[in-house]
Amino acid sequence: MLKPLLFVSAVVLFGISASSATGPRPQDATPAPASGQKNPVKPTAQSLARAKEIYAVDCALCHGDSGDGKTDLAKDMQLTLANWTDAKTLADKPDDELFSTIRNGKGKMPAEETGRAKDDEVWNLIIYIRALPKQQPVAPPSATPSASN
Ligand code: HEC
Repeated sequence: MLKPLLFVSAVVLFGISASSATGPRPQDATPAPASGQKNPVKPTAQSLARAKEIYAVDCALCHGDSGDGKTDLAKDMQLTLANWTDAKTLADKPDDELFSTIRNGKGKMPAEETGRAKDDEVWNLIIYIRALPKQQPVAPPSATPSASN
């Protein structure tokens, strides 16, 4: 009676380890950028809200909430940061280049690990920072329109 039981448990164990090793996980579905790739992500209010959160935690300490790069940390680390509040700053930088700077880091900028932002979240970050010039208060801040888009 012992042998069939062992056989069954061996099959079960093998089945478990085989199934856990199959295939890429579904949340990694966004392709990594090929050279020249345009942003493949269609942003939603929700995905941009998430990008804003990630930016506030992982990026604003250097680049500033407004994206102007004038932060204490940038000064302390003697970083030369571009001013993204001017729409021209990022205009000539292609999406795939921004993606690999964010994902891999560059110079004194640390890499944003996949555990902190998945690929589609990095693409949303790019949309978010490209839109920062439109976020700047033109009139007094109280006149900023509320969530109409
Ligand atoms: C420790 C400070 C620091 C943090 C944190 C940081 N950056 Fe940077 N970032 C830099 C520096 C320095 C550069 C310039 C790198 C170079 O060209 O040598 C840079 C460059 C960039 C660029 C390339 C365009 C440009 O203006 O030069 C992008 C895009 C960017 N950062 C996005 C981000 C995003 C998104 C985050 C958050 C996930 C982030 N950064 C977090 C310091 C930082």
